[in-house]
Amino acid sequence: MTTARYLAAARSIAGTLPQVLENRGLDPAAIRRYLLTETPQGVAWLFAVLDDKRLARIEAYTHRETLHQISTALHGRPVVTSNSSGLRYAVLLSKPPTMPDLAPFPGWRAGLVRVGVDLRGREVALPWADLGHVLVGGMTRYGKSVFLRSLTLQALQEGQRLALIDPQGVTFQAIASNPALLAPIGGRESWPQVLESVFAELRRRADLFTAEGVDSLAAYNERTAGSLPRLLVIVEEYNGLVESTGGVGGDLAGQVARLGWESAKFGVSLVLAGQDFSKRHVGPVRAQLKTRVCFRVENSQTSNVVLGRSGAERLTLPGRALVGGVGVVQCYYLAGLEAAPAGDGLTVAERDLAARLLAQGGKMTEAALMGMGYSQRESRALQRDWESRGLAERGKDNAYFVRGARFGETNPRTDERTNHEPGQPLPADLSREMLDHAQTLHGQGFSLETIAHIILGDPGRAGELQTALPV
Ligand SMILES: Nc1ncnc2c1ncn2[C@@H]1O[C@H](COP(=O)(O)OP(=O)(O)OP(=O)(O)O)[C@@H](O)[C@H]1O
Ligand SMILES: [Mg+2]
Repeated sequence: MTTARYLAAARSIAGTLPQVLENRGLDPAAIRRYLLTETPQGVAWLFAVLDDKRLARIEAYTHRETLHQISTALHGRPVVTSNSSGLRYAVLLSKPPTMPDLAPFPGWRAGLVRVGVDLRGREVALPWADLGHVLVGGMTRYGKSVFLRSLTLQALQEGQRLALIDPQGVTFQAIASNPALLAPIGGRESWPQVLESVFAELRRRADLFTAEGVDSLAAYNERTAGSLPRLLVIVEEYNGLVESTGGVGGDLAGQVARLGWESAKFGVSLVLAGQDFSKRHVGPVRAQLKTRVCFRVENSQTSNVVLGRSGAERLTLPGRALVGGVGVVQCYYLAGLEAAPAGDGLTVAERDLAARLLAQGGKMTEAALMGMGYSQRESRALQRDWESRGLAERGKDNAYFVRGARFGETNPRTDERTNHEPGQPLPADLSREMLDHAQTLHGQGFSLETIAHIILGDPGRAGELQTALPV
């Protein structure tokens, strides 16, 4: 498959790489040979294979700074290492991944709302607690309902409750009898029953909070070991429904505004979707809307109402959106709600780390993490990430603890909840870091073969990766 068109670039890299090593006081002669490969998808890599016997300190060769310097010397080309079957540098020769026209939903990740990928091919995701209320705008056929389904699916996998209003009755059909629904899906006439059940649930939660003397879902769940789920309330075709229910002074708009004000502390995210929002529609709930997602809209005024900026009128592809605070995102595509991929929302690396920490009593201290090979910065980032996703919590003395329940500690995982048999062995030479790296590359759209090539040094081992990645 290797083509001549990358030969010149490969030669120039082979000329530069030893110099960079030498400049860092490393052995340039450690590079044993070069290997140029191109995958059927047109992704080309140059591998520089190092001679293990010549390497006194492998870490010096794999150090972040070394990689950074190599990459800089190669005009910013991505450079990664693999040290599973002998150390090798992999330099990307073909164009780096860019935003795809279609990004298939990659599966649920515990505690996160996965939205899509950004201009550089990186994932855009946020913890549920940061979602707040959501405004979704976009002309017909540009991806609102697909986005709402991806939110719904993730909420369901998270174990949340749902309250859905869908005037046309097409978006959520597949889950019409799902027990997570607070009330039957509301339609053009039956929406008041749905809101009624939401307000009843808010009153119930208010009583529970009073009994525990708390004022937020997080505080309540801390007291009660996490028993109260979040609630996702979605109103499809919101602007149309407002117009047919007395306008902005009417019943629906009034109730939604009240819900917007009263519900956030009870763990409720209210999602309003529509084609053509005007200031009148959004005004009463404006301050409550934390997340704004705008697919292509008719004109810059609508873009301004939804996002507070123009630009969404220039989007051209379905699924492509401007997301407040983020920029352009290709939102994940999900064929239908019934197509929910199975999984427990955890990567093998996360499960493995949790198991090791739980075996030591569950404390997730910096020291414990650093003892497992994470740097201090990585350890702190992990603590924050796990806390925001509900995988860890902070105890009285501010120490982090793994939440065993999220890792099936009390209920042993059953096979239907997970892709991986609990006892299934992982490839022996696949370290946790490598798995995380594989995960990242996978998120960027690289094929399993390419990832297997980089990480394991053998594209033929793609199958082993497939069992290891939560996809
Ligand atoms: N994230 C996406 N990635 C790629 N294609 C998408 C995406 N979302 C939607 N599409 C394409 O656009 C079509 C319309 O999407 P969707 O039904 O979500 O539009 P909509 O905004 O809800 O339209 P309407 O206002 O008419 O209900 C989909 O059937 C699909 O072909
Ligand atoms: Mg729709």
